[in-house]
Amino acid sequence: MSDLAQPLLRWFDLHRRDLPWRREPRNPYHVWVSEVMLQQTQVATVIPYFQRWIERFPTLADLAAAPLQDVMKAWEGLGYYSRARNLHCAAQQVLREHGGRIPPNPEALRALPGVGSYIAGAIASLAFNQPVLALDSNSKRVLCRLFAHEKADRALRALAQAVLPTERAGAFNEALIELGALICTARQPRCVHCPLQADCAAFQRGTPTAYPRPRPKRTVSRVVVPSLVLTDGVGRALLCRRPAHGLLGGLWEFLSAEQSSSAQCADEDAAALAHRRAGLRVDPASVRPLGEVSHAFTHFKVTRRVWHARALNPDSLHLDGYAEARWASIEDARALPLTRSDQKILALWRADVQQSGLPL
Ligand code: ADE
Repeated sequence: MSDLAQPLLRWFDLHRRDLPWRREPRNPYHVWVSEVMLQQTQVATVIPYFQRWIERFPTLADLAAAPLQDVMKAWEGLGYYSRARNLHCAAQQVLREHGGRIPPNPEALRALPGVGSYIAGAIASLAFNQPVLALDSNSKRVLCRLFAHEKADRALRALAQAVLPTERAGAFNEALIELGALICTARQPRCVHCPLQADCAAFQRGTPTAYPRPRPKRTVSRVVVPSLVLTDGVGRALLCRRPAHGLLGGLWEFLSAEQSSSAQCADEDAAALAHRRAGLRVDPASVRPLGEVSHAFTHFKVTRRVWHARALNPDSLHLDGYAEARWASIEDARALPLTRSDQKILALWRADVQQSGLPL
């Protein structure tokens, strides 16, 4: 075993967090679900989602058999929803093509939807102890510092490959992730506690945070889109399902102008919006503001400016750009997989109903 792997693994054996997906023996399905959830999402956020998920879909076969709508509901709030759609689809593929057994080798894993080199390496090494790398953003940061390397490129991967211990590859991969999460953090690395301090080139140069070289900040555009709690006069509002693919694909939302980085509908009024996207007319006297909710995507921030309005012809729906729509009570809406900002709009609607006592 390399001189780097030994102190790292010793440290990991002593300090690893007891996370629900780390129970021994490792369950390949648990490893897979957790790694998909942990992409782009913090451990603390993932824990309750993971636990609920395993209760709801205890095995890969349960997941494959579940309706997509239930899967999306269980993912609601985690973001990057294509991860859930791909996981569901991949579970069905494993049933069809591998007799329900998750394949141990990275090539077969990579053929599954949503499985790239990181997830394939993580499943292969953590669940099946195959001698392959799985480098996430934490471990890449650790390695950049260890080798005083400015960016996570192929050369860095080759350096990591050279120190990967074949007998405990999974533990090595997870130990690097853990070190990045607990000690070698992005802003304030705690080098005095680091098991690799003596070997760390960035530490020796006295500039650990200079590696990896910071990327230029991307500019985040802000868009304002009008959205409608459009009611039917008997306590229900119009909920619409977004197209299956693309941003927030398959999730339900209150009737809204298109949410995209180039949205240009900031001042479209409630009546025009209801007519354009649902073919409905609204009672002008019913239009009033309910508030605003915001959500930050990677490249842009959306503020939904929310209006209440009542439809005059609720039975004449003509949808534009939505896969489906239905009139939903507050209870019905709570059962649908909503985007995060639509959960907030639902709360605005509830509060409005409770406070105003006005006819819906
Ligand atoms: N992030 C990605 N994979 C992880 C794991 N297995 N444990 C903790 N954090 C992680």
